[in-house]
Amino acid sequence: MLRRLHPHQPTSFAFTAANLAWGRGQISKYPEGRQASAIIPLLWRAQEQEGWLSRPAIEHVADMLGMAYIRALEVATFYFMFQLQPVGSVAHIQICGTTSCMICGAEDLVAVCKELVNPKAHALSADGKFSWEEVECLGACANAPMAQIGKDYYEDLTPEKLRDLIGRFSNGEVPVPGPQNGRYAAEPLAGLTSLKEFESGRQRYNASAQAAVDLRDTVKKIDGTEVPLLTPWLGKAAKPAPAAKAAKPKVAKAPAPVAPPAMQGAPVAPKGLKAARGGRADDLKVIVGIGPKLEALCHRLGFFHFDQIAGWTPAEIAWVDDNLEGFNGRVTRDGWVAQAKDLAAKIKGS
Ligand code: FES
Repeated sequence: MLRRLHPHQPTSFAFTAANLAWGRGQISKYPEGRQASAIIPLLWRAQEQEGWLSRPAIEHVADMLGMAYIRALEVATFYFMFQLQPVGSVAHIQICGTTSCMICGAEDLVAVCKELVNPKAHALSADGKFSWEEVECLGACANAPMAQIGKDYYEDLTPEKLRDLIGRFSNGEVPVPGPQNGRYAAEPLAGLTSLKEFESGRQRYNASAQAAVDLRDTVKKIDGTEVPLLTPWLGKAAKPAPAAKAAKPKVAKAPAPVAPPAMQGAPVAPKGLKAARGGRADDLKVIVGIGPKLEALCHRLGFFHFDQIAGWTPAEIAWVDDNLEGFNGRVTRDGWVAQAKDLAAKIKGS
């Protein structure tokens, strides 16, 4: 299937403050120069935030990671988990159409989607609540036919069951995921033939379905109640090492945690200018790592000249790194200050 960007795109994209913080945490997992490794989680978060992945969102993520747009587009268009067009406001239904599901009735499930949602895959239902598509094997073949609705699997489906599920979702319910034919998991339909001794003490639903019930996020959109991504390696959640007890003098005392350099001392905003001196700014784009967007951002922050950047202290670098709105960490990563020093020296010597 040809995966193309949707013809109608929003004009811009920005992460919410919470999602931006989450994204920065993801990026910080990877070593310097390997930030592109965070592309999948960041694209996914953008999709979770908006429901689908627009071109501005893909480009925004590429900018955050210092990647060429085409590289980010390659990832977004390759993986089917990324939705390149608007999806239903309640749920996007993914019907597995691979061998096991196909011979167990996937075509009948597709027919239900065509009737209740839209005759065309990836198109919205009349009320905008649903969309659907046929996907490749989702790895639940023993419970064929099945569909992924939102984040969870609904298995052992029949057309009637799927019809019922869509109706219940439409009414605001979130039906319990898992087998829909009374099976606990993937045991024989007639019941367990072995390991029967474990049957009596088990929880109400199988582990996957139970987790879905506990998490209650089957079709939930990001709303700020998510568990934040912890980044103790940035020093924020580091706890002081417990002091060694006097009764155990032979135990080596753990060294006190050392904050990474960027966290030492409070960041301080460098003094900016209201406008370029003499009305003529230096071409900051000469600094490797600064493009038109970052140059405009620098101007907004009051930085127009190489000698300004060359004079930043570590605390000021930390502040600028923290305030680059989606480009955080670039000053340190691309060595702006060292580059600016060279450029300022050249201007002075010319
Ligand atoms: S064939 Fe449908 S889940 Fe594998």
